[in-house]
Amino acid sequence: MVHRSIDRLPLEADDRALTGFFLSALGHADRITLHHSVMASHLTEILCRSMCLNGRTPEIVLAALFHDIGKIGVEGRFLAHDGPLSPAEIRALQVHTTLGAQALSRMFERETVTLVACHHHEKYDGTGYPAGLSGEEIPLPARVVGLIDAYDAIRAKRSYSPARTHGEAMACLVSARGTHFDPSVVDAFVRSEQSVEATYDETQADLAADTDIRHH
Ligand SMILES: [Fe+2]
Repeated sequence: MVHRSIDRLPLEADDRALTGFFLSALGHADRITLHHSVMASHLTEILCRSMCLNGRTPEIVLAALFHDIGKIGVEGRFLAHDGPLSPAEIRALQVHTTLGAQALSRMFERETVTLVACHHHEKYDGTGYPAGLSGEEIPLPARVVGLIDAYDAIRAKRSYSPARTHGEAMACLVSARGTHFDPSVVDAFVRSEQSVEATYDETQADLAADTDIRHH
């Protein structure tokens, strides 16, 4: 089901083979991150189109698929830990950005893919990580994927927070317009919100089917 979902993405032919291989590896290491990555790539496609980034869409979608690949290198006990983390655990988890960027710079030789892995947790007001970049210092594709990453994280059910609706997630993102997020990226997301909600539901159904197969 995950592969069928990935087949629908607008990727370049050369990238597809490598993508299948590395996503299988990610799926074995961390199924939740694989599902998050597939969801992020579909929603990123919608946001790219809303921002008229048409020529750059395939590489930004590819970057969304791999933005968290560095989590393969983070100890599983942090990833499985579904609750508040200690400061030391948070630092260990944050390393997934730079670890991922290092690996991806060799895998794809695509600057966008590397930059998104490195900078998708930066915040528009400069309070994010790993570099504390602010405003337009943050590469545009990283601002795009960063917003999508937050949307999916807000909607997901965790032991310490319930699943939230599309409307609740939108309200969170809009309230952080200009602080966490680039205002123009938030505006483009709001313009495409009907497609976002529909694609989220459709992709969720595909990913739920993937989980069912593994459990039987
Ligand atoms: Fe991340």
